Amino acid sequence: MNEVKMKNYLMNINGEWVGEGLGTIDVVNPANGQTVGTVPNGGEEEATLAIDAAHEAFQTWSQKTAYERAGYLKRLHQLILDNQEELAQIMTLEMGKPINESRGEVKYAASFIEWFAEEGKRVYGETIPSHISSKRLQVWKKPVGVVAAITPWNFPAAMLTRKMGPALAAGCTVVMKPSGESPLSAVKLMELCEEAGFPKGVVNLVTGSSSKIAKAIMDNAKVRKITFTGSTEVGKILIRQSADQVKRLSLELGGHAPLIVLDDADVEVAVKGVMASKFRNAGQTCICANRIYVQAGIYDAFVEKFSEAVEELSVGNGVDESVDIGPLINQAGLDKVKNHVQDAITKGASVVTGGEAITKDGGVFFAPTVIKDVDQSMVVMQEETFGPVAPIQKIASDEEAVKLANDTPYGLAAYVFSGNVARGTRVIEQLNFGIVGWNDGAPSAAQVPFGGMKESGIGREGGHEGLDAFVESQYVSIGME
Ligand code: SIN
Repeated sequence: MNEVKMKNYLMNINGEWVGEGLGTIDVVNPANGQTVGTVPNGGEEEATLAIDAAHEAFQTWSQKTAYERAGYLKRLHQLILDNQEELAQIMTLEMGKPINESRGEVKYAASFIEWFAEEGKRVYGETIPSHISSKRLQVWKKPVGVVAAITPWNFPAAMLTRKMGPALAAGCTVVMKPSGESPLSAVKLMELCEEAGFPKGVVNLVTGSSSKIAKAIMDNAKVRKITFTGSTEVGKILIRQSADQVKRLSLELGGHAPLIVLDDADVEVAVKGVMASKFRNAGQTCICANRIYVQAGIYDAFVEKFSEAVEELSVGNGVDESVDIGPLINQAGLDKVKNHVQDAITKGASVVTGGEAITKDGGVFFAPTVIKDVDQSMVVMQEETFGPVAPIQKIASDEEAVKLANDTPYGLAAYVFSGNVARGTRVIEQLNFGIVGWNDGAPSAAQVPFGGMKESGIGREGGHEGLDAFVESQYVSIGME
């Protein structure tokens, strides 16, 4: 690997690559501390120019047919697949994800573009039976307008395509603001948009100061919709800031996913599911299992088999094909994980495997960790850890599982392992989470609704709901006298 060269990248506004002379932000590979590229340190001025360009482009993009827009999106889909390896390498270098996971994310990212290219053709209006014979009542669907897509570092390609796919298919134009930690995947996606021939201003990319760019976005009435993936804390700020102009919001925020293993579960299936859920992206995934509740009858067998599987995981620089667990995103991320584990140990939990930071080649790694005998008093069971740590608590009953699982302000994802249909159904019906994996640790897909209840967000991405988020209903009453 390592074909991607260190370079000073630019942002793209109204079809032009710009940003030279603005100062730069270093993009640092967390596996070794090396700078892999820089992006311009843009601010309010650049964001405003991008919003103006998107606003101008909206006038014509929104008038194209859904079939024309699908043509551009299909070309982009194919280009993403054609460039899968380069995109994957960029991703691994900029944020540490193991290369095989990066390849998987690129495919996942492409799937949103493909799915929404097709779904855009199915934005149906409605004809509603009238109460008066000389009237016709209709609902027309209109794109919401200029969209700001603000995305996180942990899925640098898929979170962008999950937003821009439906926005563009619906007829909206987009200003992308990727995370400062992993903006290079967005730069590459922008290049591919250019190659796909999107008219200028339809897709724009701004990089730089999150606070300055967000201020320009939130203050500008031309931006009608914010779609954001990130922390609940920032989501709440966006909710407050959007009030003045009543901007539309889709928010995919923090999670704290419970994973319940009932005593009728197949242990092999449960272990496979927890491995898939817990260690994806080194545990830095909003829907990663964060707290594991295992019923007493299966607890010892589960802990033993699960720990054996965890011990097999290899940790290191994601460029190595054999690596399963890459670095954490930065030192702050590592410190948080360390604190969670230390707090659990201090309060009486025991480490079955792992439990330590790993110092290696200047990178920030944490060993894949299983902790048992945890309880609700421990921070690891109260807050999202965002690291490769699996805390396991013994539970007595289905009722206890449901009570503990729901005892959180978050409601993004939950997992249940049970071989009994009636029991699994009853438990899941009581869980207040937007996504549930039942005997499944990897529920995400382009065609399904992804999003959370409670403080985990507003709205859904993916599936037909993901497209609804970018259209407005316009009721038209037609008098025919
Ligand atoms: C996320 O961490 O929010 C993305 C996970 C996914 O799409 O499966």
